[in-house]
Amino acid sequence: MQAASSKVAVVAGGGGIGGATARRLAEAGVSVVIGDLSKDNAQAIAAGIRNGGGQARGVACDVREQGSVDALIATAIDSFGGLDYLHVNAADLQIIFQDSNAVDVDLAVFDRTIDVNLRGHLLCTRAAIPRMLERGGGAIVYTTSAAAFIGEAERPCYAMAKAGINALMRHVASRWGGRGIRANCVAPGFVATENNRKTLPAGFLEEAVKRTRSTRVGTPEDIAAMVALLLSEEGYWINGQVISVDGGATTR
Ligand SMILES: NC(=O)c1ccc[n+]([C@@H]2O[C@H](COP(=O)([O-])OP(=O)(O)OC[C@H]3O[C@@H](n4cnc5c(N)ncnc54)[C@H](O)[C@@H]3O)[C@@H](O)[C@H]2O)c1
Repeated sequence: MQAASSKVAVVAGGGGIGGATARRLAEAGVSVVIGDLSKDNAQAIAAGIRNGGGQARGVACDVREQGSVDALIATAIDSFGGLDYLHVNAADLQIIFQDSNAVDVDLAVFDRTIDVNLRGHLLCTRAAIPRMLERGGGAIVYTTSAAAFIGEAERPCYAMAKAGINALMRHVASRWGGRGIRANCVAPGFVATENNRKTLPAGFLEEAVKRTRSTRVGTPEDIAAMVALLLSEEGYWINGQVISVDGGATTR
């Protein structure tokens, strides 16, 4: 049985890191709604949480569509009575393989990347903030990436989208911090999720460990622990920050 809590969270973008966040929040007694492009994925995460005694619902959601995002937030209100926490985590990670360089990249790749990975985060923000204000505040965590600030020789569209999320987060913290809404970003290093393990070339994991100051690559649970802290009351004095959780791959 989970510890009791009256808090309600939405995770937009299930997958590896989002799924781990949903499970982590549910373990703390938070009621969770998971929205994902893959309804099956969202529902599987929610079913796993319910089987463990938690409260969760999984729904289809496309963060590119305001109506779909509004419906995701409405599910939290209708099912659990309100909204306190939001983890905006969705990203199209398949298109990264076409995200070559600023000269050669197909602009359709740029448009698609911005649509999902940045505009989608704005749409989630717009839907959530009025509902959080009704409860006297809340907390938002966006999943960004070191790609936003390290300056890589490839995947410029991904980096631009992630840098945009950092800017959005700082705006939200500045605009609504005084009304009780906090916003932060978590910037993961390489995290071996079920999805990306399928496509890793031989030797990739060993090379990824060498880029850290650690003994292993990240797990979804490493990131979920930080997201849960940032959302919780224990994270109350953390606002407007980009927090790297990457085994020391970047030091700033
Ligand atoms: N895994 C890593 O190494 C890593 C590193 C740095 C940052 N990140 C970031 O972490 C986040 C989660 O990544 P992950 O590795 O868990 O990936 P993942 O592919 O397991 O999860 C991403 C989820 O987003 C969903 N999604 C894609 N398009 C969507 C849309 N239009 N609407 C709603 N949902 C959509 C996918 O269905 C998927 O379930 C992403 O924002 C990613 O950029 C991951």
